[in-house]
Amino acid sequence: MKQKLFAANWKLNKGPKETKSFFEEFLPLLPQESQAQIVFFVPATNLESTAQLLSQTKIHFGAQNCYSQLNGAFTGEISAQIIKEIGARYILLGHSERRQIFKESDEFIALKGKLVQSLGLIPMLCIGETLEERDAGKTEKICEAQLVSFMKSIDLKKDWVVAYEPIWAIGTGRTATTQQVSETHAQIKKLIQREGGSSQTLILYGGSVKPENSKELLAIAEVDGFLVGGASLDPHSFSKICL
Ligand code: 13P
Repeated sequence: MKQKLFAANWKLNKGPKETKSFFEEFLPLLPQESQAQIVFFVPATNLESTAQLLSQTKIHFGAQNCYSQLNGAFTGEISAQIIKEIGARYILLGHSERRQIFKESDEFIALKGKLVQSLGLIPMLCIGETLEERDAGKTEKICEAQLVSFMKSIDLKKDWVVAYEPIWAIGTGRTATTQQVSETHAQIKKLIQREGGSSQTLILYGGSVKPENSKELLAIAEVDGFLVGGASLDPHSFSKICL
């Protein structure tokens, strides 16, 4: 069985002070023997403090985005090279908020995936459909387009992770049903293998995951873990999801 992965996406929340108090509360809540892999995607400004706070633990951390080039005249952008230097292991790419608010294209995201892997870091690609697309029966097509362009750019022999996040389930309290999750994850798994990827690639679910629904969702065979937004901001809620 694949080891489950639990990822927290803090989005634009928590400064260094709150990060410190979060981990002071969160770390004692995890049982010593816990085998869960945990990753925190913190705001870029907190990467350094997160690195220090997690240095004695097995928990990984990462950035929520990076630029498609390592350095140069790109004022205000974040370099994967610098993220790596701070000690991050993962970089989240293509979150629907990046796609929708910041107009990131599949091609741009694919470039970043290649760059992230070239540094030995692990890209976590977010994919997912809008409610209109689901209602129009286009979920598989949308996931396919987002996946295929990324897979063509990265090295499929190196690690990468997929997070399926239906946009209509993000921050809405409306979780996809177990049948919708199971069906879509199975389609994603098939697509990955069709494109020459591995059956071992982790496929996480994201979208209003909370302690009240996490056990049921994790019981779905095709779900390898979660990418959690809102509920990851509270140490107690997120620790319950990771247990
Ligand atoms: P919520 O868990 O708040 O719905 O957010 C999901 C998400 O966007 C994680 O990346």
